[in-house]
Amino acid sequence: QKNIISISDFSKDDIEYILRLSEKMEPIARSKKQSNVLSGKILGMLFYEPSTRTRLSFEAAMKRLGGSTIGFAEANVSSTTKGENLTDTVKIVGEYSDAIVIRHNMEGTARFASSVVDVPVINAGDGAGQHPTQTLLDLYTMKRVLGKIDELHVALVGDLKYGRTVHSLAYALAMFDVKMSFVSPPELKMPNGIVHDLNKAGVSINETNDIHSVLEDSDVLYVTRIQKERFPDPEEYSKIKGAYRIDKKLVEDTDLIVMHPLPRVDEISYDVDNTKYGKYFEQAFYGVPVRMALLKSIIDSFE
Ligand code: CP
Repeated sequence: QKNIISISDFSKDDIEYILRLSEKMEPIARSKKQSNVLSGKILGMLFYEPSTRTRLSFEAAMKRLGGSTIGFAEANVSSTTKGENLTDTVKIVGEYSDAIVIRHNMEGTARFASSVVDVPVINAGDGAGQHPTQTLLDLYTMKRVLGKIDELHVALVGDLKYGRTVHSLAYALAMFDVKMSFVSPPELKMPNGIVHDLNKAGVSINETNDIHSVLEDSDVLYVTRIQKERFPDPEEYSKIKGAYRIDKKLVEDTDLIVMHPLPRVDEISYDVDNTKYGKYFEQAFYGVPVRMALLKSIIDSFE
């Protein structure tokens, strides 16, 4: 399809196609070589919110494919500071680019952007909404590390209320034959609307605040940061921060892997990093081949 706004814009076949194409891209990304399949193409990158992995892996992906990027990493270096509105900015960059990647703190921004330009728009995170390209690399990581997605038991842990990565991932996993557990403090449960959609799709969910109850049976512990920046009341964040801390002692003697979209604060101890459990750095690397696959597929099919 033209735009990537929500993971629900993809069918299971679309997802599997991108994962297969990512496998073909991985050797290029791993060997740090360049192909010329997007030579002459320009990706517009509008990051109104901070990012390390998403922005830089999109940039690396575009450059590995022979294309180039323009854009800004902070709204305060753009004409937004002079009062320019989002519509005008997106329209202008749409004229300069072959596709736009946008991150914004307001839910729905990517969809709105796609309504004002003709070029494809990719959602790189819209507030507490969705982060569909993160989900594709999450699925790719599961497939690469565990050899499959079907039949896994995936436990989503942490801030399930404001965490956009888990919102997209839950919808994607529902397309596969997986078991899902949602582990969060009561205040940060998965939004009712998402649980309702998943139940409607026939997925049964185990919701709990007890991480110990899912350790033995899970294949993947997908841990998330508590999203401090989304709390309307800083006091509420102070009460909940540090709700879960995954350390080596907690996971040793299990068969699971630990994933995290990163950045982490203190929810995964450094002593997990160099164990067979910690897969989050490998996961972050897969952002490059997966985004190469996405960019090729979207920009090629738009022509
Ligand atoms: N996972 C992720 O979105 O990381 P960044 O915020 O660094 O882009």
